Amino acid sequence: MAAKAGKRVLVFDTTLRDGEQSPGASMNLTEKLEVARALDLLGVDIIEAGFPITSPDDFEAVRAVGREVKRPTVAALARCVAKDIDRAAEAVRDAAKPRIHVFLATSRIHREFKLRKARSEILRLSVEGVRRAKSAVADVQFSPEDAARTEPDFLAEVVEAVIAAGATTVNIPDTVGWATPDGFRRVIEHLFEHVPNIARAVIAVHCHDDLGMAVANSLAAVQAGARQVECTVNGIGERAGNAALEEIVMALATRPDAFGGCRTAVRTERLYPTSRLVSRVTGMVVQRNKAVVGENAFAHESGIHADGVLKERTTYEIMDPRAVGLKTSRLVLGKHSGRHQFRQRLKELGFRLTSKQVDDLFFGPFKELADRKKEVFDEDIEALVENELVTAPEVWRLVGIQVATGTGGMPTATVELENAERRTRVRDAATGDGPVDAIFRAMERLTGVALKLADYQIRSVTGGKEAQGEVRLEAQCGKRTVAGRGVSTDILEASAKAYLMAINRTLARRMKKRRVNRKGRRGRQASGKSKRK
Ligand code: KIV
Ligand code: ZN
Repeated sequence: MAAKAGKRVLVFDTTLRDGEQSPGASMNLTEKLEVARALDLLGVDIIEAGFPITSPDDFEAVRAVGREVKRPTVAALARCVAKDIDRAAEAVRDAAKPRIHVFLATSRIHREFKLRKARSEILRLSVEGVRRAKSAVADVQFSPEDAARTEPDFLAEVVEAVIAAGATTVNIPDTVGWATPDGFRRVIEHLFEHVPNIARAVIAVHCHDDLGMAVANSLAAVQAGARQVECTVNGIGERAGNAALEEIVMALATRPDAFGGCRTAVRTERLYPTSRLVSRVTGMVVQRNKAVVGENAFAHESGIHADGVLKERTTYEIMDPRAVGLKTSRLVLGKHSGRHQFRQRLKELGFRLTSKQVDDLFFGPFKELADRKKEVFDEDIEALVENELVTAPEVWRLVGIQVATGTGGMPTATVELENAERRTRVRDAATGDGPVDAIFRAMERLTGVALKLADYQIRSVTGGKEAQGEVRLEAQCGKRTVAGRGVSTDILEASAKAYLMAINRTLARRMKKRRVNRKGRRGRQASGKSKRK
């Protein structure tokens, strides 16, 4: 068996690529950059920023992330196709540590039905893909897609060939979440036993969660010698998602005995803030009982458990909540708090804001909130920052709502919006099945955007009667899902903010599409003219 690598496990985060690919999780450029900065702070080793050939947006995102973050490697995905690889190379050209990640399916089912190619051709294309990527960057990763269902000997043959062609990382994906921990461990062991040049590359794994085993499979692969894990924050990703970054990191940190002392370089206390950020920008709610970052992950309801934890935390807690960045809620500020205290608290909560942003928040929404609410908790401040520094592009801004409702009456809402660019205000009223429906209808009349509500959830950010309410919703616009989020002590206002966010995102998408179409038309006209010349 070839010698296995040391104990350091590289974390390859694909939140911005595989994660963003999942329905309802799309992010705009500003949001992607915000997440990339957070991943940098978190300490991940590699950020897969996108799949440049798929759209101009993806290309721009990879390029912008590569220019923005300097410590981690920035990877761009490409099929083993020349135009994909060249586009990926262009996207990572300005990155301090660029990587091109090429992939090609190797399993029989993909070969026969999707690609209609023989093994020999797959082998040839894989090697050619790696060579082409290698001519642009030194750091090349190859993934035999659907590796978990590939014949072990053919997989070993491909892995050996791509390493010989210059791949510095070979990633073994369980693309469809088919593997079991024991089976996947054997796949990795087989490679270590049958690929003579395996020590020249890092062996990575990329597991999907269709059977809920993505994290277990990734960890079994680490036990077998894999030294790069591919994962996403909150486990977002295609279908049931990817292996959850926070779960892998904390499993290795909490149980070194079970994983031979393997460790990552992730700053675990950044896990919770990063999870919140990704949830906010994607609009994908983290389930309450989600391991490590869920709301209940450190909650003890049962008397026996609570009593045990009070006597000795480790009776029922295997991780210290502070180790993942969770703080117990405590009173921090009120209406008499000063700007300095506010700035200090923001810093402690991990926000890096400019002086202007701090001042705008303090004199505006914070003062307003402190007037409405006697006690301002950490969670209130987090919600406030997240709400005010909304990264969704603003076409319309909410000025105000007035709602009349009551038993037996017809709920009516009057909504006033401001066009962010023209600074003009518009107002309209509508009736609805309930007050929230009336608000949404009034907004549809004002903006001309009609969405179909698919999901609507309210939760309170902190406890008590004056708690802020957070509304998260998902709406359909044609085939696309768009998410929205709003926070306020008034749940109708929170609903209005969430719906307006979804409307703004839809409008931004439409404007972008129009710009791309216009560019395409101009390009076609220009090439038509030059052909005629
Ligand atoms: O799931 C998968 O196989 C992938 C590859 C592109 C690595 O996402
Ligand atoms: Zn994947």
